[in-house]
Amino acid sequence: KLKVMPQNPYLAIERGAPGRIGWRIHYFDEIDSTQEAARELAAGGADQGTAVIAERQSAGRGRMGRTWHSPAGVNLYTTIILRPPIPLADVPRLSLVAGVAAAEALEREAPGIVALKWPNDVWLRGRKTGGIIAEAVTDAGQNLDCVLLGIGININLAADDLPPELRDKATSMRIATGHPCDRIAIADSLFNLLDSRYMETLTRGFESVRPAWESFSALTGKRVAIVEGGRRQSGVVKGIDGTGALLLDIGDRVERIVAGEVSAEGAYE
Ligand code: BTN
Repeated sequence: KLKVMPQNPYLAIERGAPGRIGWRIHYFDEIDSTQEAARELAAGGADQGTAVIAERQSAGRGRMGRTWHSPAGVNLYTTIILRPPIPLADVPRLSLVAGVAAAEALEREAPGIVALKWPNDVWLRGRKTGGIIAEAVTDAGQNLDCVLLGIGININLAADDLPPELRDKATSMRIATGHPCDRIAIADSLFNLLDSRYMETLTRGFESVRPAWESFSALTGKRVAIVEGGRRQSGVVKGIDGTGALLLDIGDRVERIVAGEVSAEGAYE
């Protein structure tokens, strides 16, 4: 009853000691969601830095209950197990940190067209190519046990393979640059950059990574609307603070926004 797994092409980029990002990479041809595989590995005691990569997901998950379009053979779908010694409330910052690492990894292949849309959408020329989700797993006492950091990046997805509802919102590295990209090289850069940005965050705090996040910020200086829990606020984005909250100038004061869906008012790139 052995299920024959295809050879893991990501074995070549495993590196470092247990605890480092990507020290071990579990590879699946097809899976429901890499988040679920990582959850099981974490429950079994997998060390920090253990990653799961799938060629295809049948139930890829996005933020806010959305699905993540996960066709076979073209993109990167990965979940990394983190065991940070931080309070539960600080977990969302890690998804911003991952956004910086993802933006830096794509910047190498597609210089000048990469941006981050708060909190952590990765954009190429104003369209979404990557998304990040940070799921906290807690123990019985509601203390943080581990974080399942999920990263999806559209790499070689062709325009024709985008479902109609995503056509004017989503893109891929291939669509935006006009040429196919090496998924394994991108995963390699991503894991390396995430390893250093993550370690930097643990030793020096999110404040240390903030300038890098700001340098990719798509919406700083732009007028946006933010919807959260039925409440809508409009203002001009000033940037983010040292906790990762979005700073929104609403005229008479600056509001700290910790959650919500941001949309630009008017055209932007
Ligand atoms: C978002 O922008 O809504 C977040 C998308 C996160 C997608 C990735 S793909 C790998 C991992 N497995 C999942 O089911 N989701 C994340």
